[in-house]
Amino acid sequence: MCGIVAFTGTVDTIPVLLGGLRRLEYRGYDSAGVALQLPTEIKTIKRQGKVLQLHEAVDKAIAAGELGQMPTTGIGHTRWATHGIPNEANAHPHSDCTGEVAVVHNGIIENHAHLRAALSERGHRFFSQTDTEVIAHLIEEEYQATPGDLAQAVRTTVAQLSGSFALAICHAKHPGVLVVTRNDSPLVVGKAAYGVLAASDTPAIIEHTRRVYFLDDRDVAVLHQNGTIDFFDPAGTAYSPTAVTIEWDLEDAERGGYPDFMLKEIHEQPKVIKDTLAGRFDDKNHQILFEELALSAQEMSDVDRVIIVACGTSYHAGLIGKDLLEAWGRLPVEVAYASEFRYRNPLLTAQTLVIAISQSGETADTLEAVKLARRAGAHVLAITNVVGSRITMEANNVVFIKAHIEIAVAATKSFLAQVAQLTLLAAHIAQQRGEVDGRWVSELYEHMQELPAKIEELLTDTATAAIERCAAECAAAQTALFIGRGVGATTCYEGALKLKEISYLHAEAFAAGEIKHGPIALIDPEGLSDPRRQTPVIAVTCQSATYDKMLANIEEMQARGAKVIALATVGDERIAQLTPYVISIPKVRECLSPILASVPLQLFARFVALIRGANVDQPRNLAKSVTVE
Ligand code: M6R
Repeated sequence: MCGIVAFTGTVDTIPVLLGGLRRLEYRGYDSAGVALQLPTEIKTIKRQGKVLQLHEAVDKAIAAGELGQMPTTGIGHTRWATHGIPNEANAHPHSDCTGEVAVVHNGIIENHAHLRAALSERGHRFFSQTDTEVIAHLIEEEYQATPGDLAQAVRTTVAQLSGSFALAICHAKHPGVLVVTRNDSPLVVGKAAYGVLAASDTPAIIEHTRRVYFLDDRDVAVLHQNGTIDFFDPAGTAYSPTAVTIEWDLEDAERGGYPDFMLKEIHEQPKVIKDTLAGRFDDKNHQILFEELALSAQEMSDVDRVIIVACGTSYHAGLIGKDLLEAWGRLPVEVAYASEFRYRNPLLTAQTLVIAISQSGETADTLEAVKLARRAGAHVLAITNVVGSRITMEANNVVFIKAHIEIAVAATKSFLAQVAQLTLLAAHIAQQRGEVDGRWVSELYEHMQELPAKIEELLTDTATAAIERCAAECAAAQTALFIGRGVGATTCYEGALKLKEISYLHAEAFAAGEIKHGPIALIDPEGLSDPRRQTPVIAVTCQSATYDKMLANIEEMQARGAKVIALATVGDERIAQLTPYVISIPKVRECLSPILASVPLQLFARFVALIRGANVDQPRNLAKSVTVE
């Protein structure tokens, strides 16, 4: 969480830093700050609140002449509080006792309490409650030991830190120089025509360059104003890394005329599915291709168990993957929350295939689960959206989903891309294991090719108006329940997560067969006589073997006072007789129905959030990448 950005070059650093921070706000947005290198000092400006508040403060400082001539070197930070409340004192950058060192940090220093106590004993004074501040004071001490060598001071400081960190540091005695380093937190370094940059994520620098470098754990890079970068490994040996070219561009990181990123990303889903399917089918041999998997047919048939590890929305994609892998590949599949998996003693062997799903590739718990699985000798396949992310370095193989950059905190297009990718993967594995034949695979692929057009149908004005009407019916409720069966239940888990995270309306999802075992008690009986008290129940009721049972569940809920909003296959007359609130889904095979049914649920959550006055892109208390556990 938290976003850091750093720039040194020949142009004004302020727009580079503030522009970068705005693009990193999805990582945290409770306070923000910059440290600017002025000729004789470091000037720090921080504010509680969003980057906008910081921008206003910087403008004031410029107007008051406090920044002198245009500063060309600086570091910036947007925070998601972990240690200490979100206030100005805890906002980054943090400084040492002399005010010469400024540090921005993303991550958590696990041994900060011990370091802080020792530094305090040695006379250091602290100004914040953060874990980060110890770093500034340690650099102050280490710099005294190696005067003039900032990189060495950073290296010896970092050697004392445990935990996760991406750091950018400037020093008053080193004009035009920045030092950056990382461990278990992301950091990208880029070279532009007019300077060098570093940031937590590529959106912050894509406006300036698409040529980037990724550092390994505890490597140090020294960025110079003249555009050169020195890279060092943890032992201090210089090396030349290979540059990576980022494939997406600035337009992808902009709202492009949409009122918010979430809506833009929802509308990008037809293209995301097209991109996911492209190149995956060999129509000569009737095979789904997964060259990245790098497991031979023999190795694949040796796999005796699959464990999918993930968090949040990615976990829900994993649940759908499980159903398909078991049904088609006839393999036992377990889906585990990465945060639980890493703390138990899971059964792992060389025959276990672990599939780790993470949009960001940075989620701390998922990364730890991957490391644990690798140590136990399992083969780990990562499914991620982010090139150069941590997970790509930890897994045996990587499959990239083709969602392109996702900025809204709520995962939408990445979820659809994950589910589509898992569907293809399940078919591939089933075929490798001889469980399905080429004809079966071709038919599935044909059906999948129809998905983009079907998603477009769900995004028309008429379709979204129907969803908005249903959202208006629920926005004032205290709680909303989601019910479904089979993959419909999993679709509901994701729908409920989307609703609660962006609208703050409490929502829970249940396998519909479970409602009589407890959840039905949540239906407010007052709803039978007072429509304002009706508990909204969103029922995913697409055509399936359990369709009749779903109708029975709907009637049971209504009989107790629920207001049922049904997602049903277009033209479903039986549903229309049960409820006036119907959201139609194009006809599709049941196994592909989550890909379609999730789209109206995303829009539904967004409409409810807007009606309730919430910020759909930056929901409270959340951040896009959860890089701390
Ligand atoms: O980047 P990841 O896929 O590993 O993130 C996991 C969750 O934090 C994430 O899916 C979260 O639940 C979503 N932002 C919810 O919309």
